[in-house]
Amino acid sequence: MVALSQLFSLSLLIVNGLAHPGESIKPDVLRRRHHLNHPERRSLAHCKRDLKESGWMSHQLAKRHARYNELREGAGYAPIAARDSDLSEDLFARQASCTLDPEVTEGPYWVSGELIRHDVRPGVKGDEQGVAVHLDINVIDVSTCQPVTNAYVELWGCNSTGVYTGVVAKGNGDGSASEIDNNSLRGIQPTAENGTASFITVVPGHYVGRTNHLHTIVHHGATELPNNTITGGTISHVGQFYFEDGILGAVEQVNPYATNTQERTPNSADFLLMMGSQGGDNPFVTVRQIGSNVADGYYGTIDVGVNPQAVQTPQAVNRWTANGGIPIPGSMWEGYPWTKKIRSLLGL
Ligand SMILES: *[C@@H]1O[C@H](CO)[C@@H](O)[C@H](O)[C@H]1NC(C)=O
Ligand SMILES: *[C@@H]1O[C@H](CO)[C@@H](O)[C@H](O)[C@H]1NC(C)=O
Ligand SMILES: *[C@@H]1O[C@H](CO)[C@@H](O)[C@H](O)[C@H]1NC(C)=O
Ligand SMILES: *[C@@H]1O[C@H](CO)[C@@H](O)[C@H](O)[C@H]1NC(C)=O
Repeated sequence: MVALSQLFSLSLLIVNGLAHPGESIKPDVLRRRHHLNHPERRSLAHCKRDLKESGWMSHQLAKRHARYNELREGAGYAPIAARDSDLSEDLFARQASCTLDPEVTEGPYWVSGELIRHDVRPGVKGDEQGVAVHLDINVIDVSTCQPVTNAYVELWGCNSTGVYTGVVAKGNGDGSASEIDNNSLRGIQPTAENGTASFITVVPGHYVGRTNHLHTIVHHGATELPNNTITGGTISHVGQFYFEDGILGAVEQVNPYATNTQERTPNSADFLLMMGSQGGDNPFVTVRQIGSNVADGYYGTIDVGVNPQAVQTPQAVNRWTANGGIPIPGSMWEGYPWTKKIRSLLGL
């Protein structure tokens, strides 16, 4: 008889597209392959010339360096002169995450209805602890090679010890029912006139089976409501962002990260990361440590190529409301990891 814990890990693997009983090729792999073979798929690299000639790229690079110095000064350090590599246009779009189809799954922990806010660290009772990341996400339309100035970028990640707010699920912390009433490390930002959505969050911790990662969704045509949320519109992009091993190694040594007893999965063993890195896409955040201590935090940037006409249909498990979180009836992620799909696959 299969132990419950084994069944549980198996179900995690299936949901994450890592395994599929009786099939060697998984749905996520097929979806990704379809994306890579898509005749209209374009990487952000082909926009490089346009972005360079329009002056956007050099403006961005100068802005990024200025922002870095602003953060340094905020943390009590003297500003530093830009190195050639900081302003090198050759670097641009080597770090570009791009898609016409979802690169990867939204996963079981998307909560819709989140607030528009720059700093997503505050929760219902206080701020999340962890190493701060000041993240600038630059959204570029790969069909026109122009920055997307009227989109909303959604971001969510687990806390520094690997637990998501807003969801109650086995394997997510202790699965406590009160988790549904927390909204820290989740939020939405508009792309300003330059196509940049700016957040402050923490470097995500890790949990069993996955390397540290952040989730993102790009919304188009949404309407802002008086209560600081968005409604309607379409979603063109569902993706995940990653951090280099060197950064993660340093961060995981400091508290509270170091108190996490869950087993770590290195970047090299993360299947969804491998899928997200195919075809020249690079889902790693480019980060720079703000001061001389890891605890001073990081400045991170990532360029995301989207086709605003593309329509993705990720499914949220819960919805954030004025009265806290509520489940979305019939969500495919309901009861995770024992979702309807898993139950039927396992004949339960
Ligand atoms: C919920 O939010 C509080 C801060 O308000 C935080 O201390 C706690 O760790 C959060 N829970 C999760 C799962 O992050
Ligand atoms: C992460 O969330 C869990 C669940 O709320 C909580 O027990 C843990 O203390 C949080 N980690 C940190 C660093 O706050
Ligand atoms: C983008 O525009 C916003 C709003 O004007 C501004 O605050 C931000 O600094 C700009 N960011 C970049 C990277 O140009
Ligand atoms: C914001 O307003 C909408 C429309 O009335 C409502 O459905 C939603 O639950 C509200 N969200 C919050 C967080 O107040």
